[in-house]
Amino acid sequence: MHLPSSLVLLAASLSMGMDAGKGKGNGKNCKGLDVLAKKAGLKYFGAATDSPGQRERAGYEEQYPQYDQIMWDSGEFGQTTPTNGQKWLFVEPTRGVFNYTEGDIVTSLAKKHGMYLRCHALVWHSQLAPWVESTTWTADELRKVIVEHVTKVARHWKGQCYAWDVVNEALNEDGTYRESVFYNVLGEEYIKLAFKTAAEVDPKAKLYYNDYNLESPSGKTAGAQRIVKMLQAEGIKVDGVGLQAHLIAENHPTLDQHIDAIQGFADLGVEVALTELDIRLTVPATAENLAQQKEAYKNVVGACVQVEGCIGVTLWDFYDPFSWVPYVFPTEGAATLWFEDFAKHPAYDGVVEALTNKTSRGKGKGKGKGGKRANLWTA
Ligand code: XIL
Repeated sequence: MHLPSSLVLLAASLSMGMDAGKGKGNGKNCKGLDVLAKKAGLKYFGAATDSPGQRERAGYEEQYPQYDQIMWDSGEFGQTTPTNGQKWLFVEPTRGVFNYTEGDIVTSLAKKHGMYLRCHALVWHSQLAPWVESTTWTADELRKVIVEHVTKVARHWKGQCYAWDVVNEALNEDGTYRESVFYNVLGEEYIKLAFKTAAEVDPKAKLYYNDYNLESPSGKTAGAQRIVKMLQAEGIKVDGVGLQAHLIAENHPTLDQHIDAIQGFADLGVEVALTELDIRLTVPATAENLAQQKEAYKNVVGACVQVEGCIGVTLWDFYDPFSWVPYVFPTEGAATLWFEDFAKHPAYDGVVEALTNKTSRGKGKGKGKGGKRANLWTA
């Protein structure tokens, strides 16, 4: 999918643990997104990335030098997440046989470049090893399987993960539980078990519940709040809620909706992060849908900046050819901030505006709790 940078000009004219956080490019003149995010009070602005040569990245080797420069050396990003390497399918493909080769690729790059690392994901129904799904488990056996997986994996990366997505996508859209193998055998107990185990193994990592469609208030956000409260009521450590933020340019939430959703979680005393941000549009990209995308990025990043307790933003890759979107949503694409020719989307400027206080405050909401962030916005 080649999207010429002339489109950008057109759209622009229309709308116009850790030793982390020390990413390069933080010099005085650097205006990378991570630099701006830190000035706005966030911990980081990051981009998830996959292992070179794998999946969406296969066949694009010529682009790697320019990609790597932006990813690791530009000041744009101060955090990363492996998009695939730590998932159950790769880490424990056969029961009791652990393989950290893939997961170590991106995690060691994060370390090398002094970036925050979000680790993803311990218990998830998707990209699960087939043996977990195809076995008829007794409750006791499945408990053992979860405890062994979480223990071994969290121990392998102990001390390196700023945060772990402990449970991913446990909810249906109406807030009821998804009928995964874990839920079908153990009910909500599997969530408690996963968090409890992760907390024992890596007590310093922030433990997150992570899901999509949590970016504006709904039955699903109520469900995620219920999970947080359930863990808190049992004294089980839960530190954050990850809003994946796989959004749609042509039909995106308002700034106020984002603020309300984020605040709803922050009010429970947990932190919030945008963990997999991308905003897809119906291809081809046009001046119009790129302008909608710009507004959508500005709203969601602006809401994170405005609500005290929203601590960081992660793009689910920053480069269109490496995005998962066209593979899963065949009529959609151009979801990231960089086109195939490395020109920036107009939405990049939307993010910059959000990070530099140019998002108008939504109807008096999101003032935060009187901390530094609120002052920034009234300045
Ligand atoms: C995606 C990866 O980016 C793809 O490479 C892979 O083929 C499928 O998974 N929610 C998640 C992520 O939590 O792990 C998913 O990542 C995107 C949706």
